[in-house]
Amino acid sequence: MTCAATERVEHIGNATLYLGNAYAIRPTLGWMDADVMDPPYLIKTSGGGKFRADRPYLDQIEEEGMAQDFDHSIINPLLCGSLVTFCSNDQVPRLSTHLDGLFHRFALCAWRKLTPMPVANKHYVPEIEIYLHAWNRGHHPVGDVADLKRIVDARSRQSKDFGHPTVKPDAVMDKIIRNVAGGSVCDPFMGTGSTGVAAIRAGKRFVGIEHNPIHFETACRRIAEVADA
Ligand SMILES: C[S@@+](CC[C@H](N)C(=O)[O-])C[C@H]1O[C@@H](n2cnc3c(N)ncnc32)[C@H](O)[C@@H]1O
Repeated sequence: MTCAATERVEHIGNATLYLGNAYAIRPTLGWMDADVMDPPYLIKTSGGGKFRADRPYLDQIEEEGMAQDFDHSIINPLLCGSLVTFCSNDQVPRLSTHLDGLFHRFALCAWRKLTPMPVANKHYVPEIEIYLHAWNRGHHPVGDVADLKRIVDARSRQSKDFGHPTVKPDAVMDKIIRNVAGGSVCDPFMGTGSTGVAAIRAGKRFVGIEHNPIHFETACRRIAEVADA
């Protein structure tokens, strides 16, 4: 996909949404208390055996370029006090190497899927999705003890919900947002705006970036709904 730096900017309540290329836009946004992101994964979209035909979302992931790794230089501790990033299993080694020394402390957390796909495909059943919370001094995880558990249970969303194959459940994003310190959140790979919905509901400022115009429209609509509520 060709991405101009910024093709459009929408201001919706306490949110600012950019249609454009995250790598060009994020460095211009300056300081945000937390970057909370669900970047493109490094996943294999082939295989799947007899269940493959039931998983058309894998084709969409491939077609929309979400099966390739992302450029880790977008994670910059000079621009955020903490980072939450989802990552696929195969992203863990390179991501860990990049983060080593950038943040003070790290926690590996997981969304446990209550209805995982019943496949293994020469791997493990995908019943968890991991995310990493990294922070520097003064930006440690917040919330009460019950909320500071590392595992959150939630059902997966249907990909048909918002026409996007990897929409994160509200319960997962609400929990993550409750755990990040500060009043401002940036999601440079916002997709349909799940991080923004949770951030606005929690009374935080949100800045999101998405390069796909269809998903950008969905994010604008979802965030406008909670901003008006
Ligand atoms: C894994 S999805 C995020 C889904 C999101 N968490 C949600 O719940 O809807 C990653 C998103 O990043 C977008 N993306 C990938 N590369 C990008 C780039 N360079 N700039 C902006 N957006 C990008 C993709 O179009 C995709 O929607």
